Amino acid sequence: MDYAEAVKKVSEYGQEHVLQYFNELSEEEKTALLRQIAQTDFSVLAKASEKGKEQKRGVITPIPAMKLSEIKEKKETYTKQGIELIRAGKVGAVLLAGGMGTRLGSDNPKGMYNIGLTKEVYIFERIIRNLLDVVEQTGTFIHLFIMTSEKNHEKTTAFLKEKKYFGYAPEYVTFFMQDMAPASDYSGKVYMEEKGLMSASPNGNGGWFSSMKRAGVLETVHKAGIEWLNIFAVDNVLQRIADPCFVGAVAEKNCAVGAKVIKKAAPDEKVGVICLEDGRPSIVEYYELTKELMETKDEAGEPAYNYGVILNYLFRVKDLEEIVGQEMPLHIVEKKIPYLNEAGETMKPEQPNGYKYESLVLDMIHMLDSCLVYEVVREHEFAPIKNPTGIDSVESARELLKLNGVEL
Ligand code: UTP
Repeated sequence: MDYAEAVKKVSEYGQEHVLQYFNELSEEEKTALLRQIAQTDFSVLAKASEKGKEQKRGVITPIPAMKLSEIKEKKETYTKQGIELIRAGKVGAVLLAGGMGTRLGSDNPKGMYNIGLTKEVYIFERIIRNLLDVVEQTGTFIHLFIMTSEKNHEKTTAFLKEKKYFGYAPEYVTFFMQDMAPASDYSGKVYMEEKGLMSASPNGNGGWFSSMKRAGVLETVHKAGIEWLNIFAVDNVLQRIADPCFVGAVAEKNCAVGAKVIKKAAPDEKVGVICLEDGRPSIVEYYELTKELMETKDEAGEPAYNYGVILNYLFRVKDLEEIVGQEMPLHIVEKKIPYLNEAGETMKPEQPNGYKYESLVLDMIHMLDSCLVYEVVREHEFAPIKNPTGIDSVESARELLKLNGVEL
């Protein structure tokens, strides 16, 4: 993109100010800014005015779940089916590691966090070890796709290379970068972080499949004959990935997606709850769950909206390809965004000063026709690390790891 094209593009969105310092930039900085303008989707900024006018939800009803007792009964059959699919190379894993991990507060990518006490135990290491259990069980390496973002790609790739992928076969590891979204003030004007750099952040975990496609990684998926992709968050260190029983159950039930869920610890626990919305699978965020829904009981007297998602989904690739071009809901999140002040200095605000624009993977569930809700045991599969201390923290995850016999 040349300067004239950049002027045209930013003018279309009322963002001319991003070129304000162009003449002061070095040649290298000019090229970088023009590239950033070419790659940026400014259309999201127009949604700033829609903040607070959230889309109305459809009619929410309970969704049946495959409970632990049923899974236990059919464990052998499902596991056998899952192992066959894995051995046939039909299952891939996608690690979502493009987030900023701001709550944890480390400068490095979250996966590089050392949670060990007497030795080094990295988050990435724990996740790869969990996947290696399935490699051992099936005698087959599983393609592992790792989504990073511009903000953490270099560090992530260098770290995993240095650690020799914690024993994983490098030819089965593929990195791809997710797209970035501009960050703006409350009126939708994009902030500048430096004179030649717009403030931007990863565009949320909902863009993982379209980013995979754009990066050309979908070709690898096709060539390898992968039919199912198990996506999972970087921060759940007890996560079971490509779990044969789960894979077998979702395939057997012929669902477009399977969602691992846990029974909620309390009606108001801060996890997204799986349900039906206008008859289609959907997830209601904890802050959208009304008191009435929280208190609704099923025939057995159990809470009807009792299953929380843990960001571990098995998607059927052909169904993803059908929805990949569709527009996803945009989540507008208030954040602290670095910006240039009038004097041209970069400021780091103490308080939120604008919006980031994200799409979320949980919205993909509602775009699909069928979802197997698959219950797992919380203590064995859910130890998220969001914060340094307290709930969902390094501390709580350490306790859960110890409970599961992991040495730290
Ligand atoms: P979170 O919603 O916990 O966000 O991500 P985060 O960025 O890691 O942490 P905070 O909110 O800044 O503290 C859930 C999962 O989705 C991934 C994260 O890496 C994590 O595995 N993610 C999130 C992405 O891959 N890309 C994104 O743009 C956002």
